[in-house]
Amino acid sequence: MTTTLLPETPAEPASNVTPVVMPETPVPVATDVTFRIRRYQPDFDEEPHWVDYTVALYPTDRVLTALEKIKAEHDGSLTFRRSCAHGICGSDAMRINGRNRLACKTLVKDIDISKPITVEAIKGLPLEKDLVVDMEPFFAAYRQVLPFLIPEGHEPTKERIQSAEDRARFDDTTKCILCAACTTSCPVFWTNEQYFGPAAIVAAHRFIFDSRDAGSNARLEVLNDKEGVWRCRTTFNCTDACPRGIEITKAIQEVKQALIFRRV
Ligand code: SF4
Ligand code: FES
Repeated sequence: MTTTLLPETPAEPASNVTPVVMPETPVPVATDVTFRIRRYQPDFDEEPHWVDYTVALYPTDRVLTALEKIKAEHDGSLTFRRSCAHGICGSDAMRINGRNRLACKTLVKDIDISKPITVEAIKGLPLEKDLVVDMEPFFAAYRQVLPFLIPEGHEPTKERIQSAEDRARFDDTTKCILCAACTTSCPVFWTNEQYFGPAAIVAAHRFIFDSRDAGSNARLEVLNDKEGVWRCRTTFNCTDACPRGIEITKAIQEVKQALIFRRV
């Protein structure tokens, strides 16, 4: 066997090699941020009152992180709901600087921290403790619109077929996570808790426009009530508040049209 020796590649003269300088990654800096939280402990307080807390936070921290820090470092009695911490369960809707948002999806860098950030419970539902409200009236309205598929005929032996176009009709309203940010930002709901509210109408829309469903008339009858869709004054607060970007006002308009023409 013969071995062929390859000629060596001449090394570059050292003087021609330009050192690569990597740009320095800026190190995030924690800043003191003050939160003004509307506290209410029913065992001790006659009325809710505001309390300030200051915690060190990074710009990419969320308001939920701040609340957890306040609870850990300042006052363990601070009460709020949260579960998934990733915008899915809908349990941490609250009013942050006067706007309904999910605490787990609101970043410190997106809020003005030059003055205290106000945090309070969502409005229009009975306040139970600190940032926690009684959600039962909200879910009662949700249950009334029959938020489940009502199929017709016998149980099928294979899946119920639906075209892509038919599925698209209610795609937007399937995204609801029942956080109540829309209903509790609605001025009609604030003054009239009998009003079904936007979230219940969104839930109804999801099934009314589903081609596999046969319960639309029953739902439309429920929403034809004087506390149903006709109470909506199209203020768009609900659409602005929705953390899922659902076009709620449009969905409400579509339900109104379905009621007028009884055609879905
Ligand atoms: S429609 Fe939007 S704001 Fe209303 S409950 Fe559903 S996810 Fe929350
Ligand atoms: S904690 Fe689940 S949506 Fe925010």
